Amino acid sequence: MSGGVYGGDEVGALVFDIGSFSTRAGYAGEDCPKADFPTSLGVLAQEEGGAELGADKEKSSGRTFYIDTNALHVARPGVELVSPLKNGMIEDWESFQAILDHTYCKHVKSEPSLHPVLMSEAPWNTRAKREKLTELVFEHYNIPAFFLCKTAVLTAFANGRATGLVLDSGATHTTAIPVHDGYVLQQGIVKSPLAGDFITMQCRELFQEMNIDIIPPYMIAGKEPVREGAPPNWTKKDKLPPVTKSWHTYMCNEVIQDFQASVLQVSDSPYDEQVAAQMPTVHFEMPSGYTTDYGAERLRIPEGLFDPSNVKGLSGNTMLGVGHVITTSIGMCDIDIRPGLYSSVIVTGGNTLLQGFTERLNRELSQKAPPSMRLKLIASNSSMERRFSPWIGGSILASLGTFQQMWISKQEYEEWGKESVERKCP
Ligand SMILES: Nc1ncnc2c1ncn2[C@@H]1O[C@H](COP(=O)(O)OP(=O)(O)OP(=O)(O)O)[C@@H](O)[C@H]1O
Ligand SMILES: [Mg+2]
Repeated sequence: MSGGVYGGDEVGALVFDIGSFSTRAGYAGEDCPKADFPTSLGVLAQEEGGAELGADKEKSSGRTFYIDTNALHVARPGVELVSPLKNGMIEDWESFQAILDHTYCKHVKSEPSLHPVLMSEAPWNTRAKREKLTELVFEHYNIPAFFLCKTAVLTAFANGRATGLVLDSGATHTTAIPVHDGYVLQQGIVKSPLAGDFITMQCRELFQEMNIDIIPPYMIAGKEPVREGAPPNWTKKDKLPPVTKSWHTYMCNEVIQDFQASVLQVSDSPYDEQVAAQMPTVHFEMPSGYTTDYGAERLRIPEGLFDPSNVKGLSGNTMLGVGHVITTSIGMCDIDIRPGLYSSVIVTGGNTLLQGFTERLNRELSQKAPPSMRLKLIASNSSMERRFSPWIGGSILASLGTFQQMWISKQEYEEWGKESVERKCP
């Protein structure tokens, strides 16, 4: 057996956590990822013999990709926005590879064949996709060793636990994932689409109602200060290329995400119009120079995460609020392990950084959990730890001495083929 074991501590292993919103990558053993850039890419469908390759472009099969913040932000005619992931799983393999190539070439600046790779995966990833990924990393990238681990398990490890209920609210979904002794309990996974992207959409509607135009920075040549609430006084760049709708929308969403992080606040008790009306206002300046104060809206928008019943446009509305997502998940697990889950509710994901999120969650769970249950919420105060927890868990795991026998070594892959991932990665 020892022949199959990879001495992974000889060279630095790499850890990848590729989420729908951003890609996190770096060396195992470090505190935070070296790279954190948008997972969305700009793509230009190109006829044969089209544009030449430049420093920030990656090209394959007639598609040119624009990756990472700087390349993505340049306005270019016809560049559409795409994501390699769908429902947290790899869907577009070509753009996924472009993300890996970019990471090796521009951030890691090293050869894939030199580093073992630990990658995170969605807890509901399919067997076919796991095997295809295993094949890709060994055959195409020629890596020496590989390991795939569920995001929730890595988040639990990052918080020093092997058992807990991981509540992950990222961009595309909010999920409760029970982890027991380092394994995901699949039957207890509960998912809701109410997460960061949903909040972005709600904000977009708010701006429409308030007749506030979102002008992304790429359109703006200059601006003059104006009075609070007055129409903005900005000049448009001349010679703007004809950009696509998907790219423009992405640039608008970045402005809204800034608003989400700096203005919104989760109410500490169920939304009440009178309380909301007393809310201290917060000032927000649009890139165009338009400024105004926001009061009740600050509470009203994120309320849908906890109580979806009043959200317009959610048809029939059978969606669960965050508190229910957790209690439903724990309720589907064996009665004996429920206390262990309630006493370790681990909060992670960028959307949980909304002000007041954990306070409200604590309050809801205290009300919804069985009275005899000891309840403990584990939420790091550091926003970096909250956004990077799967990566940090991977960084810890891949550098443990006891982990080194867990890798799928190249030799094992050659012996067992792509099924090696089923044998070695639960
Ligand atoms: N400080 C903040 N306040 C509020 N929202 C934030 C903050 N920081 C990030 N977000 C939101 O968090 C979301 C991204 O979260 P995260 O990085 O956990 O997603 P991801 O893991 O890439 O995607 P997913 O888990 O959906 O596949 C975005 O919607 C972003 O707007
Ligand atoms: Mg995530």
